[in-house]
Order: sequence, then structure tokens, then C-alpha cells
Amino acid sequence: MKRILIVYATKTGSTATAAQLLYDRLAGRDVTLCTTEEASADPTAYDIVVIGGCIRYAKLYKPVREYLKKWDAVLATKQTGYFILCGYPDSAEEFFEKNLTDAQAERAFDLACFGGEMVPAHAKSLWDKLVLKIERDHILGGGNNGDQREDAVLPTISEENIAVFANKLKQLSL
Ligand SMILES: Cc1cc2nc3c(=O)[nH]c(=O)nc-3n(C[C@H](O)[C@H](O)[C@H](O)COP(=O)(O)O)c2cc1C
Repeated sequence: MKRILIVYATKTGSTATAAQLLYDRLAGRDVTLCTTEEASADPTAYDIVVIGGCIRYAKLYKPVREYLKKWDAVLATKQTGYFILCGYPDSAEEFFEKNLTDAQAERAFDLACFGGEMVPAHAKSLWDKLVLKIERDHILGGGNNGDQREDAVLPTISEENIAVFANKLKQLSL
């Protein structure tokens, strides 16, 4: 059975939640789950490496960018897949285009968006709280009178997309 590494970085927690949901769906497989900062994030000993991160200011979260740079040569020899969490999942394709090299994108068995969350209470810094509040209000369409748009939908973590990704991983890891 192939060895799988799921490595991620999160700022306000949603990427961690999504990574755990993915991990839970792979019960019975040889899977390690860790953050980019942990010693077990070294991808050398794995066959399949899944890299996950949140999007901030249209960029992959810095620790993930650094991880991809540091391990680029090793990752080029592995089966790789990527997932992102963001506030605007409709822009996921654009985020991947901007943040991965052509080689990284072409080698990947999947580039997936697991949705995202915009919950100011989850933010640890005041700045993040403010950004999330502004973006949330923007999505909800709360103008001067605070009316919500009827069709406004805040992002959520997509269990469906996680399930699809997990099934691809299961096929690959046989
Ligand atoms: C400071 C900041 C900047 C963000 N920039 C973007 C962005 O450019 N595009 C986007 O779709 N979402 C953006 N988001 C939303 C996050 O990607 C979303 O909240 C995601 O679920 C965060 O993942 P995390 O909880 O793992 O950090 C931003 C959030 C914050 C706090």
C-alpha cells in the first residue's frame, strides 16, 4: 500500500478542519497528517503527497509557498495533489494558476477547492477579524441599511469536494 502524506498550513483553522476531514475519509490507508512546520512534513519517504493551504490576498499562505519551494525537487518525484480553502471558491482555478508553476499543476493528480469559511470569530489577529468581517459583509450585501441579499451565500467547507478528492486518493494508493 502506498504511503500518503497530507501536509497543510492554516491561518484561521479551516484548512486544518478540511485536512482532518480528508484524513478521516482515508481510514485504513497508510496516511500521515501534519502541518508544514512539523518534522514529519519531509516528503521523502512518501509515495503520494497532498498539499493544502488557505488563500490570503490571492496567494497561497506563505508557509505552503515556502514548503513547495523547499521540497520542489523531491515533490517532482512523487504523486502530488493540492487543495485550497478560500473565501471565493469561484476563483479557485485562478488561484491555482497564480500560485503553482505549470510543472506543479501538470504533475498534480488533482487541484481541488474544499470551499472555505469567513468567520471573524476564528481569526486570531484583529486585522484578520476586520478583513473577514468586511469580506463577509461584502458577500452578504449588507449596505447602509444592512439588508442582506436574498441570494447571498457565505462559503462553507465542502464535504462533497473532500469526498471526491478522497476517492481519487484511494484509487491511487492501492
Ligand atoms: C487577511 C485575509 C485575506 C484573505 N484573502 C483572500 C483572497 O484573496 N481570496 C479569497 O478567496 N479568500 C481570501 N481570504 C479568505 C480565506 O481564504 C478563508 O477565510 C479561508 O477559509 C481561510 O483558511 P484558514 O482558516 O485555513 O486560514 C482571506 C482571509 C483573510 C483573513
